[in-house]
Amino acid sequence: MTSKCVISLDLPEDIVAPLGGQFELLTWSGSEAMPEMTLQNWLADAEGLLCALSTPITASVIARAEQLKVISTISVGVDHIDLAAATAASIPVGHTPGVLVDSTADLAVGLMIAATRRIAEADRWMRTGQWSQGWQSDLLLGTDLSQATVGIVGLGPIGEATVKRLRGFGCRILGWNRTPRVLEGVETVDLEDVFSRCDIVSLHTALTPDTVQIASRERLASMRSGATLINTGRGALVDEEALIKELSSGRLKAGLDVFETEPLPSDHAFLSLENAVLLPHVGSATRSTRMAMVTRALENLQAGMSGQRLPFCANPEVYGLSA
Ligand code: DGY
Repeated sequence: MTSKCVISLDLPEDIVAPLGGQFELLTWSGSEAMPEMTLQNWLADAEGLLCALSTPITASVIARAEQLKVISTISVGVDHIDLAAATAASIPVGHTPGVLVDSTADLAVGLMIAATRRIAEADRWMRTGQWSQGWQSDLLLGTDLSQATVGIVGLGPIGEATVKRLRGFGCRILGWNRTPRVLEGVETVDLEDVFSRCDIVSLHTALTPDTVQIASRERLASMRSGATLINTGRGALVDEEALIKELSSGRLKAGLDVFETEPLPSDHAFLSLENAVLLPHVGSATRSTRMAMVTRALENLQAGMSGQRLPFCANPEVYGLSA
């Protein structure tokens, strides 16, 4: 009997075609995220699951998927998957580290420049016909990245790649990491200093129970007046309610690629704030990076379906290895 594999998102035909020759595929092609009940039903006798961030893989989904041999997500982050439940059920979880580092770091720096030089705001301003005089000495003034002190929260691969880019701008860089890390050109400081001493704070830490709202109300309040928060990690790293207050008062600016609720509801307060540059979670969205992510996810899926060790496993404990 052919093994069954559930794909919880619509992927281009040519990408899934090779899998079709090996497995019976059940592919969700709805325009909204796959409902949990449908996922549970489809997984009842499936051995593989290929998913992405838009599908939460909860403990109850995992508990009911009795035949499941592998969960493979097209993302490096695994916060949408109950990793502890998967590990307890001895199901390896594959993810895609490494391949999206450069694209995400590029976007973080892009957001820093967009927010501090008011690029999106200026574009909106022009398109609404407000450019009625020529060059003006005080038009849409911003601040210079070269003169900024930039704080990096999380010095893992994406944080490090962001630092590498920032060194070229000549700014001063402060950094904090959960387990101390020394990086060339980075002054290691404690977390409170990153928030209180920087003109730009950029979040690059994974979302875990320890990092939820790492950009807390108090830390946001401690940021310098006029400072900018950049988030290309996960929305839940930020106390969004507190950030909205700081943006509404005009005290802070922000460049955000991720939100606690995605997609962002059309009446969300962020959407009315001129001093926030907003992107729809596109940190890894280049053609070659997305291709590399899918390739890595398919490698994980196929290894798991055939009972082999996943090349990129987020819970190596299932193989008796430490995380
Ligand atoms: C990831 O891989 O975790 C990213 O957020 C998706 O771009």
